[in-house]
Amino acid sequence: MLNVYYVKELPSTNDYLKDHYKNLPNFSSCITSFQTRGKGRMGRSWVGNKDENIALSILIKEKINVDMIEQITLAVACTVHKFLSCFVNDIKIKWPNDLLVNNKKICGILTEGISLGDKVEAIIIGIGINVRQKNFTMDLQDTTTSISKETNRNLFPMPLAIELAGKLQMDIKLFLDNKLDYLTYMKNNLYGLGELVSFYEGLNIHQGIIEGILTDGRIIIRENQTKKYIRSGEIKIIRK
Ligand code: BTN
Repeated sequence: MLNVYYVKELPSTNDYLKDHYKNLPNFSSCITSFQTRGKGRMGRSWVGNKDENIALSILIKEKINVDMIEQITLAVACTVHKFLSCFVNDIKIKWPNDLLVNNKKICGILTEGISLGDKVEAIIIGIGINVRQKNFTMDLQDTTTSISKETNRNLFPMPLAIELAGKLQMDIKLFLDNKLDYLTYMKNNLYGLGELVSFYEGLNIHQGIIEGILTDGRIIIRENQTKKYIRSGEIKIIRK
């Protein structure tokens, strides 16, 4: 069964599930036509026009280890990639969880855990997809795209969001049963594979070549003769 809660306008679909998770069934999804305080990674905000985009969050109420959060997020990025590839060509998965077309962001993912002791009691995965928004603010216009910008198709976000919620539920169940080979998929669609990137390790900035992804979700970057395994952060491609 698919539980999808639609609320016309919300501060954030992630926060809605966080506030109500105790009373909601496992794999409930929340979607809205407009977020007034959408959240991005690293404390950033996520903004989008009303009725033009997908803001969707899914609740996973399973006791899982904290170190599974990165992997489940990668698995979700693959599901969204597969889904969006029905509409847009050449989407890349930028580790850890952005989807890019021609170097521009079409989708961002924010995973948040609700902890009890050292166990995660629930996880909320929020997905923002730019669907039919064509005009972005100055600070975003060079780095952001949407389905309609890439294809000129004017798709309605809500039916897409409901379909995606079903696919996410299916794939997350497979992931939890250890039956989803998302790593091969990820590697085949990884942004910057074999390319020179800059990345942070602690406070220090490094450069190296992306070599792949480990089974635990860490990205492998070769810096001279040393391999680095990075768990979280952001990478930036250096094109000379
Ligand atoms: C990022 O790229 O920084 C992550 C963006 C995640 C945005 C989505 S939209 C639905 C859900 N609700 C939020 O407040 N954020 C996520």
